[in-house]
Amino acid sequence: MDVNIETLIDQETLEKRVREMAAELDDRYKGKPLRVVGILKGSVYFLCELTKYMKTPVTLDFISVSSYGNGMESTGVIHFNKDLDEPVTGQHVLLVEDIMDTGRTLSYLINILKARKPASLEVITLLDKPSRRLVPIEPMMTGFQIADRFVVGYGLDYAQQYRNLPFIGVIN
Ligand code: IMP
Ligand code: MG
Repeated sequence: MDVNIETLIDQETLEKRVREMAAELDDRYKGKPLRVVGILKGSVYFLCELTKYMKTPVTLDFISVSSYGNGMESTGVIHFNKDLDEPVTGQHVLLVEDIMDTGRTLSYLINILKARKPASLEVITLLDKPSRRLVPIEPMMTGFQIADRFVVGYGLDYAQQYRNLPFIGVIN
């Protein structure tokens, strides 16, 4: 199959926005130590770029859930694949997501993490498709709002492919 990937957000635009978000997080947390929690695997490129530019002292942890199988449509069933390595009780926690779609994944994770009594819990997402939301949750910060298109690259996959594209693209 011949696949054509059209650029939606180019590398320069992405990286400029991520650096802005890093500066905004530094302003918000004012040097308070932050536990940055990446949702595997889609958030890893965003998380690395973001934290590299932050001056706030951060520690990293990862959690893994999946809901898409190999398709372009969420199955609605969330599989919990891997828990955090460390407790988050009393920590300022920032959950980092690649893209918010229906909001089901994040609301599921927020419920799990809130029960562990962090000092604070906020969500940041690189991309948001607000038109698709089924669960009313708002991220503290969003990189880009996009229309209802299936996107890949910069961590995002289609059937595990295309994560390493340095830009966000749409599959045609
Ligand atoms: P939600 O639970 O419906 O909000 O789905 C969020 C998850 O679905 C994200 O973490 C992604 O893994 C995946 N996802 C949603 N939209 C896209 C997309 O356009 N491309 C790739 N993955 C997506
Ligand atoms: Mg994801």
